[in-house]
Amino acid sequence: MKVTLIHGQDHKGSSYNIGRMLSEKIPGADITEFFLPRALNHFCKGCYTCTKDETKCPFYEEKRVIMEAVETADILVFTTPTYCMRASAPMKAFIDLTFTYWMPHRPRKCMFSKKAVVISTAAGSGAKSATKDVATALQYWGVPYVKQFGIAVQAASWDQVSEKKKGKIENKINKLAKSVQKPRVHVGIKIKFLFRIMRLMQGKGMGSDESERVYWEEQGWLGKARPWNTIQ
Ligand SMILES: Cc1cc2nc3c(=O)[nH]c(=O)nc-3n(C[C@H](O)[C@H](O)[C@H](O)COP(=O)(O)O)c2cc1C
Repeated sequence: MKVTLIHGQDHKGSSYNIGRMLSEKIPGADITEFFLPRALNHFCKGCYTCTKDETKCPFYEEKRVIMEAVETADILVFTTPTYCMRASAPMKAFIDLTFTYWMPHRPRKCMFSKKAVVISTAAGSGAKSATKDVATALQYWGVPYVKQFGIAVQAASWDQVSEKKKGKIENKINKLAKSVQKPRVHVGIKIKFLFRIMRLMQGKGMGSDESERVYWEEQGWLGKARPWNTIQ
């Protein structure tokens, strides 16, 4: 099973360690991981060239390496420390730089059968808001199974986390690791509804660029095909 981890930080702290703990509990996991901002040290420039042609994004080559690992993964694991009650800035920059994957633009069929886990640790509060930042993006990518694990660790580093806390985390991660291995993924009503709205919009030529409408047409989505159907 291919597991791709995206870390919204370039150090191996509590969020990283919990992400690794989860991944290593998945039998036979083939793990690929990226550390931000090392793997993608940019902010979106707002030039909109990607809405016409994704390959023309000034940061396309770095994104391509990461997104190939994302697209071919069975399970995605995102980790981010909670910074000022939200996801880290590198994680937010990654979300911005991949916005053409969102359903209003060029969603990828492969996303509609993926599973993802979003992990964040805070010293005290804000971890749930931090995981939600990433979970929202994943929902707009079309990922049907997104579990959020936000936890207060009362620590600035993994070494400072008490053994009692680590034990509690491990118990929860054991359950999550079992859940994420279950074979079936059900595309829920929320994603189907979002897709339907975006389909109407693209069908009326109301996307960001005509090339988006062409993309939707090529996928067959302006007709009867849907990205969550395996037989079309
Ligand atoms: C810039 C910065 C902002 C932070 N903001 C918060 C916060 O809003 N709430 C909180 O409880 N802890 C906050 N913390 C503490 C970290 O979230 C906490 O130590 C976390 O476990 C670090 O994760 P890591 O070990 O994966 O880096 C902040 C730390 C830093 C460096």
